[in-house]
Amino acid sequence: MGKQRVLSGVQPTGNYHLGNYLGAIRNWVEGQSEYDNYLFVADLHAITLPHDPKQLANNTYTLVGLYLACGLDLNHSTIFVQSHVSAHSELTWLFNCITPLNWLEDMIQFKEKAVKQGENVNVGLLDYPVLMAADILLYQADKVPVGEDQKQHLELTRDIAARLNHQFGKPDQPVLKLPDPLIRKEGARVMSLADGTRKMSKSDPSELSRINLLDSPDQIQYKIKRCKTDPIRGLTFDDPERPECNNLLALYMLLSGKPKQAVAAECQDMGWGQFKPLLTETTIHALKPIQEKYQEVMEDKGYLESVLRDGREKAQAIANQTLTQVKAALGFSIL
Ligand code: TRP
Repeated sequence: MGKQRVLSGVQPTGNYHLGNYLGAIRNWVEGQSEYDNYLFVADLHAITLPHDPKQLANNTYTLVGLYLACGLDLNHSTIFVQSHVSAHSELTWLFNCITPLNWLEDMIQFKEKAVKQGENVNVGLLDYPVLMAADILLYQADKVPVGEDQKQHLELTRDIAARLNHQFGKPDQPVLKLPDPLIRKEGARVMSLADGTRKMSKSDPSELSRINLLDSPDQIQYKIKRCKTDPIRGLTFDDPERPECNNLLALYMLLSGKPKQAVAAECQDMGWGQFKPLLTETTIHALKPIQEKYQEVMEDKGYLESVLRDGREKAQAIANQTLTQVKAALGFSIL
């Protein structure tokens, strides 16, 4: 039996931060040799909120550079750009016509984003999860690594696949494979440096809320110096009264690679004045090899483009096959 297929993506909206790395990209890298991985840049998703055309392509290249710099290995992983494979858009339309409107209106993330957008909500924002279903189902993915916030979208993906199979497939021959979420070990939910109860986010207006993967040592030092703490001496994990403390300890654990118990023991008597320099050093040290590799990769635009051309070709071969199967099942004439 061949390897199971994993599929995941990140939107090219800039400000790639420790949450993107520790919560997503690093997990892909760690498990990559066990699976056949399809990892893409979700640029079609990135235009569901107002965007700057001058930034889109740049952010896309930066993200591909970071995928490579973080250690994705082309022997195990296919890296591509969503908009390069037109089957994503095409399957979205087909899915649109079998997806009940109220399924989309019930999506938590849509409701949250729509409130923030006020009057300025486009149809694409509502349709976002259908595009995501197309991303996943086109590749007949077995496993989809997602964070807590995307679980509802994965459920919807399964519902769309089941509905299409039920309406248009034969009972013994499903058209689409139902994917499972791949939930990794705890601790990879990185919170804001300004508020330990909120996720670290690309869209937080405050730069001080996050550490970006490409931040300089000075920036990292400054942000950690200014981050929110509490007046209590002695640092502990999992105290619900101390969300910032838990988050900063978890960051130290993940970036140092030390086991939780070792970190708990090391830091139990520390004050912030001792811990912050330690976290600063550890963060700078952990990001250095990524930043060096990133510079190297980005200097060779030709290489980057060749990675994406290969990725596009491999992705298209699989995606187009699934698209044809779906079109045939729905009754389209196939040439
Ligand atoms: N919506 C995901 C996010 O913002 C990105 C994404 C788009 C994705 N398509 C996907 C993730 C398919 C996994 C599978 O995090």
